[in-house]
Amino acid sequence: MRILVIGASGFIGCYVMRRLGASPDHAVSGTCWSGPPADDGNAWHQVELTDTTALEGLFDDTQPEAVIHLAAIADIGAAERDPERATAVNVSATSTVVRLCERHGSKLIFVSTECVFDGQRGFYREDETPRPTAHYGRTKWEAEQEVVWLAESWSIIRTSIVYGWPHPGKRNFAPWLIENLRGGQPYHAPTDVLRTPVYVEHLVDGIERTVAGNYPGILHVAGRDWVSMHEFAATVANAFDLDASLVQPMDADAQARAGASVRPDRLGLDCRETMRRLNLEHPALADGLAALKAAAPSF
Ligand SMILES: NC(=O)c1ccc[n+]([C@@H]2O[C@H](COP(=O)([O-])OP(=O)(O)OC[C@H]3O[C@@H](n4cnc5c(N)ncnc54)[C@H](OP(=O)(O)O)[C@@H]3O)[C@@H](O)[C@H]2O)c1
Repeated sequence: MRILVIGASGFIGCYVMRRLGASPDHAVSGTCWSGPPADDGNAWHQVELTDTTALEGLFDDTQPEAVIHLAAIADIGAAERDPERATAVNVSATSTVVRLCERHGSKLIFVSTECVFDGQRGFYREDETPRPTAHYGRTKWEAEQEVVWLAESWSIIRTSIVYGWPHPGKRNFAPWLIENLRGGQPYHAPTDVLRTPVYVEHLVDGIERTVAGNYPGILHVAGRDWVSMHEFAATVANAFDLDASLVQPMDADAQARAGASVRPDRLGLDCRETMRRLNLEHPALADGLAALKAAAPSF
């Protein structure tokens, strides 16, 4: 299958490129924006998402049968600081991608986020109504609606906090935490911020299955365990034989006193229906961390 990965140079995109690019069944092209990653044998296209002409040229060149759209301003703070830019990249450009998928008869897999929900209850099902509270979540929800309204053949994959070894120069929560704990630095972890963390390769399992099969609609692909960031951090510490006492609990009041901007938010995704549809094992946090450890560059 001819597959185009938009946002292939990002954290998740690099793992998608590596997995799909290794398959003899696929011819995979990827986009970057800041610059192409190291030469890995894949076909790279440097494209600014808001440049409609460049996107049209990209589709003409690659003639994709399937498009995996990952590119976004995925940093919540950056989206708040420059909301117009976030809307242009996350919503308007997605609308263009959807129209081009229609023109070229490409199936679209759009990767979205738990941040489309309001964070009041958490562990949201695929059929619950989003109510985003921050600009990043609003842009992703608006982009989802563009996909639902305009696309013929589509799947939306929402995920939760994704962890894995990042590419050089990039940051990711679990490796950052491991490095800090190794250096004896305490981590004050919120007890009332809830997520369903997923190891990046397990998310890619869901993306790969969706590309290969016929799974229209909204899919939730995240980890099985619904945990606080405190539980997540303590489990990471234990899995990597680090001093878990450095992971100190912090509730909303303590966060407010410390001036932390993190608000209590109960997100996390109920993925049971999607895992059943995709016929995938639903990975536990312990499984994800074991896989992270096994893949560690220098452990
Ligand atoms: N990581 C998570 O925990 C998480 C959780 C939930 C949902 N998601 C969703 O998953 C997707 C990928 O996330 P990620 O963590 O892999 O993000 P990331 O590492 O920040 O990568 C973002 C990608 O988008 C590209 N991009 C950004 N602005 C662009 C522009 N103006 N024009 C063209 N390309 C542009 C980047 O290109 P360059 O790198 O070349 O600049 C990069 O390839 C996002 O849609 C995000 O909403 C991520």
